[in-house]
Amino acid sequence: MALRHFLTLRDLSSAELERIIHRAQELKKLQHQNQTYQPFVGKVLGMIFEKSSTRTRVSFEAGMSQFGGSAIFLSSRDTQLGRGEPIEDSARVISSMLDIVMIRTFGHDIVERFASYSQVPVINALTDDHHPCQLLADIQTFVEHRGSIQGKTVAWIGDGNNMCNSYIEAAHMWGFKLKIASPAGYEPQEKFLTEYAHCAELVSSAEDAAVNADLIVTDVWASMGQEEEQKIREKAFANYQVNEQLMQLAHSDCLFMHCLPAHRGEEISEHMLEHKSAVVWDEAENRLHAQKALIEFLLQEQHQPL
Ligand code: CP
Ligand code: NVA
Repeated sequence: MALRHFLTLRDLSSAELERIIHRAQELKKLQHQNQTYQPFVGKVLGMIFEKSSTRTRVSFEAGMSQFGGSAIFLSSRDTQLGRGEPIEDSARVISSMLDIVMIRTFGHDIVERFASYSQVPVINALTDDHHPCQLLADIQTFVEHRGSIQGKTVAWIGDGNNMCNSYIEAAHMWGFKLKIASPAGYEPQEKFLTEYAHCAELVSSAEDAAVNADLIVTDVWASMGQEEEQKIREKAFANYQVNEQLMQLAHSDCLFMHCLPAHRGEEISEHMLEHKSAVVWDEAENRLHAQKALIEFLLQEQHQPL
C-alpha cells in the first residue's frame, strides 16, 4: 500500500496533478449529467477544522456523499484537539477509524505532524503557509476557459500569503510564469522566492504585474488569524486593489480569480466579481470536482499493490 498525502502541491508529480485536473473535468461532467458514481460506499472522510470555512467544508462533505461515502465534521471547539490532546495522539486515533482526513489549521507543521502519524491519506485544506486544494480548482478553471496554463503569465496581486505560496509552487509544477506584486513587508517568504526564482518574480507594483497577464489573482488583505491587523493592512495595501482599470493592462482575454470570500472595496473593486474576466463562481464550484478527483487519486493510490 502506498500511503500518499497532499500537504502541498509538491507531494504530487506534475503528471499526477495533470491527471487530477483531467479527472476533475470528467467528474464534473458526470455530476452535471446527474449520473451516480459511487466508488467509495462506506468510506469515511474526517474533516478537522480549526478555522472557519464555507467552500472547503461544503465541497469536501458533498463530494464524499456523492461518492457514496460520508464525512465527519470535527471542529477543534468540540473535540479533545481543542483541549490540548497532542496532534500525534489524535492522528493515531482518528486515522485508525477513518479512510482519509482533511485538516484546516494554523501552523503548517500541524498537518505535517498529523500526516507523519496517520495511517490514511491526509489533505491540507489550508494552513498559514499553503492552500493547495484551491490551486487544483484554480488550474481546472483556467484549463476549462483557456486551455493549458503552461507558458502563460499569472499576476498575483496582494499579500504574500498561503495562496501566494501555493501559486508559486503551482508555477513550478505547471510551468507558468508568476509575477508577484506585494506591498513592502508583505512579500512571500524569501525562501520561496529563492527556491522558485526560475518561475516566480517579485515586481514593483500591481500595474507591473498586470501588464500582459493571462490570469490575475488576488486574495483578502488580512487572512484568518490576522483580523487584528485589518486596519494597518488596509493602509499598506491601498495601491493593491484589483479593479477595472488594472484589468485593462492585461491581455484582452485575461481571466480574474479570487479564492473567496472577497471583500469588495478592499482587494477588489465593488463590481469586480461581475467583470467579464471574472470566473470566480466556476472557480468555487470546481473545488468540489477537483477535490473529488484528489480523494479518488489518494484512495486508489493507497490500495495499489506495491
Ligand atoms: N476558498 C476557500 O477556501 O473558502 P472557504 O474558506 O470558505 O473554505
Ligand atoms: N488567505 C485566506 C484564504 C481563505 C480561503 C486565509 O487564509 O484566510
